[in-house]
Amino acid sequence: MAHVSSAVVRIETSGDRAAVSAVIEQAFEAEAAGEGVRVRGLEQALQTAMAPRDRLALVAEHGRQIVGQALLTRGWVDADQRLVQAWVLSPISVRPDHQHTGIGRELLTGVIACATRAAAERPADDPERRVHIFLEGDPGFYRKFGFVPGDRAGFTAPSVRIPPSAFQVLAVAEAPGVSGALVYPDVFWAHDCVGLRRGA
Ligand SMILES: CC(C)(COP(=O)(O)OP(=O)(O)OC[C@H]1O[C@@H](n2cnc3c(N)ncnc32)[C@H](O)[C@@H]1OP(=O)(O)O)[C@@H](O)C(=O)NCCC(=O)NCCS
Repeated sequence: MAHVSSAVVRIETSGDRAAVSAVIEQAFEAEAAGEGVRVRGLEQALQTAMAPRDRLALVAEHGRQIVGQALLTRGWVDADQRLVQAWVLSPISVRPDHQHTGIGRELLTGVIACATRAAAERPADDPERRVHIFLEGDPGFYRKFGFVPGDRAGFTAPSVRIPPSAFQVLAVAEAPGVSGALVYPDVFWAHDCVGLRRGA
């Protein structure tokens, strides 16, 4: 379908939380039974555990209803010289009745723009400057936004269970020489939300 979305993408506020949880649950439950509750729990725990400066959530609003959300949280690249901060994009959700209308595209474009701006505002040697956005997902969707396979860009996935094609990265600024293993925030492990488990 052509991009017909008239959603407005903006920063999430505390008043959005209940609606966001419902959107996440509906989006992921439509993918697989049980996934909705699991990913909703992950997202709530990430929002609670991460300091405000370590998370960035955008929502898509359509006709005064929240119909989508994307969340960035702070992870690290375990590079040779030091731990380098990076963004992890997870989850991204669009309510099933609004999918394939361009809202996912708008959310992704929005988080990339926010990360680009945040990186540009910090000097290159600032330890809190995050240049890379990592994700696990369908390359058919994400490569349109410039994401490339992480292993080809010099990074190792946080689990061998993540297929190489699913492990993707986008650099939003120059970061010469940064390579190493992606380290997820602890919450992803506590919720067993890293990679796909056999038989899952
Ligand atoms: C993945 C998701 C966020 C995409 O949102 P969306 O609003 O439907 O996406 P859009 O309408 O903006 O689509 C953008 C482009 O990607 C394509 N696309 C959308 N979903 C896709 C998918 N799962 N695989 C491949 N391509 C996809 C669209 O066809 C469109 O391509 P085009 O611009 O060439 O026409 C949404 O389908 C969703 O919430 N899925 C359930 C949760 C999920 O799996 N999240 C991702 C893992 S964290």
